[in-house]
Amino acid sequence: MKRLGFILCCVVLTHGDLYITNPRGSNNRLNGNGREVRNNKRLFDSQNNNRGGYNVGDPMYYYEGSTLSIEWANQHSCADQNANCELILQYMCDDKIRDGRTTRTIRDNQDRNTGFGMHEEWQHYLYCRTRRRNQGLFLADQNLGRNDARYTRQNAGGTKRGYECPEERDYYPYWHHSPWKDIAVLTNDVERCDYYQQESFNVKSRWSCVIDRNQLNRYYRRNIVIPDNKEDCENFKIRGRSVGAQWTEFPAHGLPPPQCIKAPWSRDNHNGNGIGGNFNTYDWVIPEGIAHEKCVLRMRYNISTNDYDSWNTDASSNTDSDTDGSKIDLLKTFNFPDQETAEARGYVFQNNPDVEVFPDLDVKLALAINTAQFGRTFQDRSHVFEIRQRPAELKDVTIHNLNVRGKRGNNQQVYPAVEYDFVPNTLEINTNDFVHIQWTGSDRNPRNNAGNGRRGTDRNNMVMLKNKVYPEGTPGLAYGGLDVLGQYGANYPMHLDNVTRLIGASTETRAVLQKMALLAPPRYSGSMVLLDNAKAYYDVGPLQFAKEGVFHFMCTRNNAFTNRSQKGRIIVRDASSK
Ligand SMILES: *[C@@H]1O[C@H](CO)[C@@H](O)[C@H](O)[C@H]1NC(C)=O
Ligand SMILES: *[C@@H]1O[C@H](CO)[C@@H](O)[C@H](O)[C@H]1NC(C)=O
Ligand SMILES: *[C@@H]1O[C@H](CO)[C@@H](O)[C@H](O)[C@H]1NC(C)=O
Repeated sequence: MKRLGFILCCVVLTHGDLYITNPRGSNNRLNGNGREVRNNKRLFDSQNNNRGGYNVGDPMYYYEGSTLSIEWANQHSCADQNANCELILQYMCDDKIRDGRTTRTIRDNQDRNTGFGMHEEWQHYLYCRTRRRNQGLFLADQNLGRNDARYTRQNAGGTKRGYECPEERDYYPYWHHSPWKDIAVLTNDVERCDYYQQESFNVKSRWSCVIDRNQLNRYYRRNIVIPDNKEDCENFKIRGRSVGAQWTEFPAHGLPPPQCIKAPWSRDNHNGNGIGGNFNTYDWVIPEGIAHEKCVLRMRYNISTNDYDSWNTDASSNTDSDTDGSKIDLLKTFNFPDQETAEARGYVFQNNPDVEVFPDLDVKLALAINTAQFGRTFQDRSHVFEIRQRPAELKDVTIHNLNVRGKRGNNQQVYPAVEYDFVPNTLEINTNDFVHIQWTGSDRNPRNNAGNGRRGTDRNNMVMLKNKVYPEGTPGLAYGGLDVLGQYGANYPMHLDNVTRLIGASTETRAVLQKMALLAPPRYSGSMVLLDNAKAYYDVGPLQFAKEGVFHFMCTRNNAFTNRSQKGRIIVRDASSK
């Protein structure tokens, strides 16, 4: 029976679940040209399907104060009756952060070995693996291997993934310091917002027991467990000898509290779409004053069932030696006369119970319940990107990032990643705003993935779509009298004579359009017909649309009517009109 539970747990583990699509989420991928991620323990515990994620590309950069549309898909619903759900967005910037060059997992104490990808540093994990885990947590009937913070209900075997701390990963707000800075919490229960904002490590310090560094390095491999409260800390000794243990305050990040809002709705069994048929997004206005060359974005998706009150259930409900299942009281919930009857009928909170639904029939039905995952956190992270100070001429303007998501291949080949698209697909701005257009990609997608141009490569460009000839198949949006330039229904670009006339024929406009279409400079030679001679990364830079109107554009390489569509739209309104 134990064995069966184990097998079931690991089959379930491959189903999955949170994928950031912009900025491109890694799902632990580096540069493997296979369909599956090579090592899903490389940097963090995603619990996602190994087929998700995008290879690393040249790093993107975003300006301080610009708006980055963070876009994702979460598979098991959010803000829906079917689950309690939180989405937690964080970032961290640090000189040591890197994507790495090998797909192997970083070994102990390798902060300076840049071959390995690294987000959290070694010390974060070292503290985690030597710190007593929180004994008050609800574990249901999970048996945890040891007593340090590597072992949790969701990670009962204490598996290591990068330098991530499993206890920190599974719980938020976490009770110890963490390098992650909070951006936002999206929850179905906004009543918890005050709590999140007060407890965030952005604003509130944490305390930990810190022992002498040399002693720690000497003893950590022997699985020492350092206490997690002041009194035990001050008395902590190893082999009867004092190790300089001190109850130490870790100051808060000193940032504003995270934004806390209602999570956008999504349904389950459906990888992505929210209301209106688009992926859900969170517009992150990148804070001023945090410019750094090496940053990474982290997103977690935490879902809990309604079979018990998970926010108010603790270790007192864990399995004890007398009963098989945990002490979650199904007796009351189901109105059974006594515990014995409930147990006899299989109504016990444990892995895969067989329940007898009809009292008068001796027939049981098995439920697929995994107490390690009844309440579960998924995760994705970006590759390394840069946050850059604005140039002086852009000091006080609004900047929107316009990027490309997806990877080469058809839907079936890339799933649960996505095909190409512009993000945001429809961008609404005014004539004072700037749009920072930039994309990245990889030359190492699976070689047989469908697409045009050299196998395995991601390439993009942008050209204006031709104007309307016939009415669109289904009438599009009403644009309130704005000039509509180009049409989604078309698959030919406008030719340049027309574009210059429509956007305003300055040489600058012409130069920009040429740059977006032909990706020049720096490279503009050889075969550009399928953009093979360009690179996967391209930065058009910040642009202003001085004219009102609705601009429709496409990517000539990837757009292929009936196979794939890569088209986008920018709606520009006159800044003075509202
Ligand atoms: C997930 O939800 C549980 C309650 O079910 C909570 O204890 C935990 O802290 C949450 N974890 C995260 C990462 O939000
Ligand atoms: C180009 O502009 C001319 C004059 O405005 C117009 O008649 C023609 O339809 C345009 N062609 C395209 C392809 O948009
Ligand atoms: C669409 O894909 C099919 C293969 O499924 C291919 O034969 C066809 O040429 C593609 N069409 C375009 C326009 O790329």
